[in-house]
Amino acid sequence: MCGIIGYSGNLEAEQVLISGLEQLEYRGYDSAGIARMTRDAVEITKTTGNVSALKRKLEEKATLTSHCGIGHTRWATHGGVTEENAHPHRFGKITLIHNGIIENYKKIREDYGKGTRFCSQTDTEIAAMLMDTFYDGNPEEAIWKTTAKLEGSYAFCVLFEDIPNVVYCIRKVSPLVAAYAKEGAFVASDVTALIAYTQDYFVVPEDTILVLTDEKAELHNQKGNVVKPEMLHVKWDFASAQKNGYPHYMLKEIYEQPEALQRTIAPRMKENIPDFEDDQIPDSIFESIQQVKIVACGTAMHAGLIGKVLIEKRVRIPVGVEIASEFRYADPIIDQKTLVIVISQSGETIDTLASLRLAKELGAVTIGIVNVKGSTIARESDYVFYTHAGPEIAVASTKAYTVQIAALCLLTMRLALIKKTLGRGEITRDFALLKESIECVKHALLLEPEIQKMTACLTEASDLFFIGRGIDYALSCEGSIKLKEISYIHSEAYAAGELKHGTISLITEGVPVIAIATQESVFSKMVSNIREVKARGAKVILITKESMQVEESIFDYHFTIPEIADDYTPIPAAVILQLIAYHTSVRRGLNVDQPRNLAKSVTVE
Ligand code: AGP
Repeated sequence: MCGIIGYSGNLEAEQVLISGLEQLEYRGYDSAGIARMTRDAVEITKTTGNVSALKRKLEEKATLTSHCGIGHTRWATHGGVTEENAHPHRFGKITLIHNGIIENYKKIREDYGKGTRFCSQTDTEIAAMLMDTFYDGNPEEAIWKTTAKLEGSYAFCVLFEDIPNVVYCIRKVSPLVAAYAKEGAFVASDVTALIAYTQDYFVVPEDTILVLTDEKAELHNQKGNVVKPEMLHVKWDFASAQKNGYPHYMLKEIYEQPEALQRTIAPRMKENIPDFEDDQIPDSIFESIQQVKIVACGTAMHAGLIGKVLIEKRVRIPVGVEIASEFRYADPIIDQKTLVIVISQSGETIDTLASLRLAKELGAVTIGIVNVKGSTIARESDYVFYTHAGPEIAVASTKAYTVQIAALCLLTMRLALIKKTLGRGEITRDFALLKESIECVKHALLLEPEIQKMTACLTEASDLFFIGRGIDYALSCEGSIKLKEISYIHSEAYAAGELKHGTISLITEGVPVIAIATQESVFSKMVSNIREVKARGAKVILITKESMQVEESIFDYHFTIPEIADDYTPIPAAVILQLIAYHTSVRRGLNVDQPRNLAKSVTVE
């Protein structure tokens, strides 16, 4: 979860580390710190709070010239949010930062640190102690000996006090990418921190040590041999990872959806039929598939709920949507005839990754729907379907969700073609509808001023409900998570027909209910459910298609999306829900992009 950066080169280290941490802050923002190396010392500055707090602390210090250092922005796991627990941690000659969890840190403390007084409650300081124990002038040997003892996940960047201007790094599971540019050598948790210097980078392979000097970023294996990195190129540039005049990343990312959808859909279009030749996903993998499991977390899992409706309807094979943290421990029934689709924006979510590994072990065919190029899930899936949303910085996922739905639409169409459950004509029509949904998103964005006004009635709510049926219920789940994660208002998503089996007792005068009713087949049923909540005093915010006739008595606010086939309504309707969450959070004066307790990329269990 934490963000880490390391640098050795000709620029001022402080400047590189701070701007890198600003780019990585969405990974964790409980506390932040840097260590700068000079010829004879390693100077640490750290604080609770975000990177701005760290900047303020640095301003109070005397200027220090340094061209090498490491930086960290923390999402607390072991130990509370205190300055002592913030990284970097120093022990003896070792100063290091860490992203991950050392599961056996207690045993290591007993075996190697008995009687030692530690400054923090972290597992990281124990790792620093262990490395210092093993260090006798040979840094790489100390690293290998240390990691041989560690259980868990880690990405470490290490400074050895007596080896000036060199950063040593190693990782297991937790991500690290590196690059060399004219300004020097860089390492970071993800490429957003490097993009100001270069678009060419590599993923640090596990079981190698990365050595950064002002002349190179070099990989060494355990025998000490140099390993050639596999270079990757990221298409987006520094500007794409900035706010570009928007007050928040989230709003910018909401507005980027038409282009993101276009980039995800258009390259897969051949003769108006989705084609995955360029993705290197062969049709043959679909032929013997008898069931599909979609495994993911949070918003990505909610995209999977939409995928289930689409695939079951068009391909007529059973689809299970599984929460990754459950799936991995649930002894799932899957085999070679199962297609497991894992969905992850970051490609690093630990539970999704573990589920992918389990699915592979059990012989399933796996496809990763992933946004971040070269991420672990992308590399480890049998096949990868990249969404092209561009960098998503806000913790609340928006554009990644709608492109994940688009990806699932495309996969459904191809699967239906291969399974012959739909003819080419029907698929061509489906494809046209998917493209139409982009225009509908543009229309939904025009509703922002009205949505902004409406959210005045939500800011004081303590509970809120989202209701829908079928695909609208799947979308309700996403609307609910979006609202609660950034507005801190308790909300729940309910299948509208299920409400009267318990939850309707919570609907009292003035409780807001966001009713999504875009499905023609169940529209009259939805209207009845809305009447039921209205009769109990609910404040109803209704979302329908333009053509749907509704009596004014059943809603307080009404937002519409343009006419589009039922299965494609979630893409534009999601935009309305995102804007509702966004403006509610803004009105409540909250940190929209960095909500409390959360981090963008969840790399711990
Ligand atoms: C969404 O707004 C979230 N913050 C969160 O649920 C997220 O979708 C989830 O953690 C999965 O992340 P991933 O797509 O990077 O795997």
